[in-house]
Amino acid sequence: MRTPIIAGNWKLNTTVGEAVTLTTALKALVAQERGVEIVVAPPFTALAAVSATIAGSNVCLAAQNVYWEESGAFTGEVSSTMLKDLGCEYVIVGHSERRQYFGETNESVNRKAKAALTLGLKPIICVGELLEEREADRTEGVIAAQVAGGIADLSTTDLLSCVIAYEPVWAIGTGRTATPAQAQEVHSIIRSLVALAASDDIADQIRIQYGGSVKPDNAAELLAKQDVDGALVGGASLDAASFAAIVKAAS
Ligand code: PGA
Repeated sequence: MRTPIIAGNWKLNTTVGEAVTLTTALKALVAQERGVEIVVAPPFTALAAVSATIAGSNVCLAAQNVYWEESGAFTGEVSSTMLKDLGCEYVIVGHSERRQYFGETNESVNRKAKAALTLGLKPIICVGELLEEREADRTEGVIAAQVAGGIADLSTTDLLSCVIAYEPVWAIGTGRTATPAQAQEVHSIIRSLVALAASDDIADQIRIQYGGSVKPDNAAELLAKQDVDGALVGGASLDAASFAAIVKAAS
């Protein structure tokens, strides 16, 4: 059985004070939840404060990005060691906004995932097709290239520490969600790709999240699908009650 994982990607939002307020409210609302992993990904500037706020709770910490080098002359970058030092357990890599606005490629995503794993950080590797790719019937090919590229050369042990997030780009921040059937179709393709790259056993165990306009009123039907093992939530994760409702739908 795969433990569902609900992660909140706060993106470029929250001052330190706002992050602590949001985390404090969330922590209280989900304190009784069991059988679901709860993750928040604040901006880098709020990681330390959120880390202190969630200490001893059932909420864990993720960063939204990481660089693959550990230290040195890389102005503006943040390493896995630094994130571990702040108590991060997960790191999001290859979010479509990083691919779209910051030039991330399957290769850089793979380098980041490898660097994170080396330091014991678990990568949440994001994949997803653009609307025009879906409309041109290219979804499967795009996802195959992103998954194969993202997990290239990872050992089976490393793969078990990875989470894959399927986020159709046309559903992110648009209020337009993939139907549960559309999500399930791509999730099952991703699981087959992992089976091909590793083994059936690893594919059975790896968790695949859906992301793209997940809200309290659509979470349950998406999470009910066989291969949907959680959600990566943007907008709705900035409201403690909404995010808690999504967590409850998974527990
Ligand atoms: P959204 O974002 O829930 O606001 O659509 C999801 C994501 O980008 O991870």
